[in-house]
Amino acid sequence: MERTFVMVKPDGVQRGVIGEIVSRFEKKGFQLVASKLMVIPREKAEFHYAEHASKPFFGELVDFITSGPVFAMIWEADQVVPLSRTLIGKTNTLEALPGTIRGDFAVHTNFNLIHGSDSPESAEREINNFFEPHELVTYDKAIKPWI
Ligand code: PPS
Repeated sequence: MERTFVMVKPDGVQRGVIGEIVSRFEKKGFQLVASKLMVIPREKAEFHYAEHASKPFFGELVDFITSGPVFAMIWEADQVVPLSRTLIGKTNTLEALPGTIRGDFAVHTNFNLIHGSDSPESAEREINNFFEPHELVTYDKAIKPWI
């Protein structure tokens, strides 16, 4: 089963859409493995966005992601990495279709509410950057009597 790292960015937390976003991922059928509200230490943010270190917006990106709390999550499902990117929508706000999270809520490419891993390899690195192994919860929904 594949896992991905997703976080509601500081703009999404401030705008009160954590619940809406969690709801969309739950209703899709993904299983929540871990979640927490946290302020990202600068060194973790720089590691997270290391592949963009040479880009002109790198400093701005790190400033933004450390500017307030984020809601970090791990979700699990078959092909959850690409499926999550579809739910999230395109980075460029002008290309984010209605029905996607960014298409429905984001009005600015730099403040686009949510991050999702772009590959299983990135997901593993990002999960290890933000979570300790004991924070991940393994459970089987199917055997619970109320489902
Ligand atoms: S790129 O250039 O195609 O590699 O960039 P992209 O993968 O689309 O975006 C990488 C992350 O950088 C954010 N981004 C920006 N932030 C600030 N200013 C500008 N101009 C900018 N352009 C892209 C973008 O939201 C991505 O963040 P994440 O958290 O990965 O979605």
